Amino acid sequence: MFAGVKHLLIFSVIVMQLHITALAASGKTAQAAVAMPDSYSSDVARAILEQGGNAVDAAIAAQFVLAVTLPEAGNIGGGGFMLIQKDGQGDFIDYRETAPIAAHRDMYLDDKGNVVANKSIYGIHASGVPGSVAGMWLAHQKHGTLDWKTLVEPAVKLAEQGFIVHPKLASSIERYIARMAKKDVTINFADYFASAKANQNFKQPELAATLKRIREQGKAGFYEGETAKIIADFMAEHGGIITQADLKAYQAKSRTPMKAAWNGYQVLTSPPPSSGGIAIIQWLKMYELTKSKAGLEHNSTAYIHLLAEIGKRVFADRAEYLGDPDFFDVPKSELIAMDYLKKRSSIITLDKISTTENIKPGLYESEQTTHFSIVDKWGNAVSNTTTINLGYGSGVVVAGAGFLLNDEMDDFSAKPGVMNVFGALGGKANEIQPHKRMLSSMTPTILLKDNKVKMVTGSPGGTTIISSVYESILNAVEFNMSADEVVNSPRFHHQLWPKNVIRHHPGLDAGVVKALEKMGYTLDERRFGDMHVIIERDGKLDAGSEASGRGKAMVF
Ligand code: DON
Repeated sequence: MFAGVKHLLIFSVIVMQLHITALAASGKTAQAAVAMPDSYSSDVARAILEQGGNAVDAAIAAQFVLAVTLPEAGNIGGGGFMLIQKDGQGDFIDYRETAPIAAHRDMYLDDKGNVVANKSIYGIHASGVPGSVAGMWLAHQKHGTLDWKTLVEPAVKLAEQGFIVHPKLASSIERYIARMAKKDVTINFADYFASAKANQNFKQPELAATLKRIREQGKAGFYEGETAKIIADFMAEHGGIITQADLKAYQAKSRTPMKAAWNGYQVLTSPPPSSGGIAIIQWLKMYELTKSKAGLEHNSTAYIHLLAEIGKRVFADRAEYLGDPDFFDVPKSELIAMDYLKKRSSIITLDKISTTENIKPGLYESEQTTHFSIVDKWGNAVSNTTTINLGYGSGVVVAGAGFLLNDEMDDFSAKPGVMNVFGALGGKANEIQPHKRMLSSMTPTILLKDNKVKMVTGSPGGTTIISSVYESILNAVEFNMSADEVVNSPRFHHQLWPKNVIRHHPGLDAGVVKALEKMGYTLDERRFGDMHVIIERDGKLDAGSEASGRGKAMVF
């Protein structure tokens, strides 16, 4: 019997080898991979790829599944960015939310001109016009190969028939309900989610009905007709400002990705209204210019200090120059020009922290967004980050449509030059205007070599996203780590303000922590991000999902 099994195994290996050789000869890669934030999105993305769909098809199906099974961040009531490398070409689907038509610069200020606490974070006033459904529709029209209905169907099923709630999700919902009960700012949240219990089936019939309209009518199933009316009526009933006209006017946009040569690679990444692409290019290039000062030991004192110094400069630029490019002229190429970065990094020294006040201020935000990475057997890749901003967004469930609305309006600067509740600063570039997109840190990124996909990376985590992404690239390229090592090795983040604070994961060397404190840094040990990364080396894919989350990565 054992001999039989052995022969069968040998036979299978030979068949697989033949398959790989045939695919290689036809210019296709044999493998595909997914690195996803939960098992449902992972299994559905895989099934779509195995059905012959491409990476974009799998991404669209996964986005809708996450709207059902990952309510803290997955969504149809939020937005995001999808970076695509397909058939050798880059594309960037910007489905970021927009400010409603009735929004205005001072909408979060009281009559004395002070920012009203929490108004842009919780409740009916916090939401931008959702972009996710339009984004998936545009991605499908441009790049999809399978039928739209096939891609929405898995989400419909999971909403209608239910899914088994992961204990981490159940306890997160429980904590959120307890916390929000004191604030009294959510609408309908507990009514819709309190029954989601660990290891039990959880059905969402209203969400299923909304998803069915999207399945049948495409984009119009959300932005027009019954769903649009439900949203607009709900808004009016609660004093919100999003109308049917806002929904009808929403447009997802296809933009040219940022591209920069770095260390023998092409970094393909997110353009504005993401701040992240420019930020990681600046970070990687300034690291390249200054690394000889520090040596290369991973997560050493010098390494962390050097990258923190670079971070000060990156975040100063972010606060000043970045906003929605359709409203504000972002100096994209100037910010990543080598001469500029040389000048900017030349005064970094290894023994001294530069004075925060001498560098223009940066930003600080909070947690919950989600990211996934997909590579198909043709070597196409999708890197997708999507969000409703904080965990469970504004805490507002649209009654009758069964989905959570975002609190993305908080990513605008509520008052130019004044920190918001998270310590975020912003100016003219990111002030509120109707139809404008709020600045984002989401940074879906793909690393290419000779125009072939080498790495797909991204993370949630507000402004810490930018650190997670550039550190994942350094981990893979400079330190040759596996995908699991890349996502699980301790990361750190510095962003100018709060002054000289380095936030970091548990697991940094105790001696390094002491040495940084001695230099004058304050160390803040708190996890951030949830990375899902795919790496290609020598024709083989390697996928990793961060162990602290509930992600699932597979190569097949
Ligand atoms: O777009 C942004 O930068 C934020 N709204 C993202 C929020 C976020 O990542 C929170 N997550 N963990």
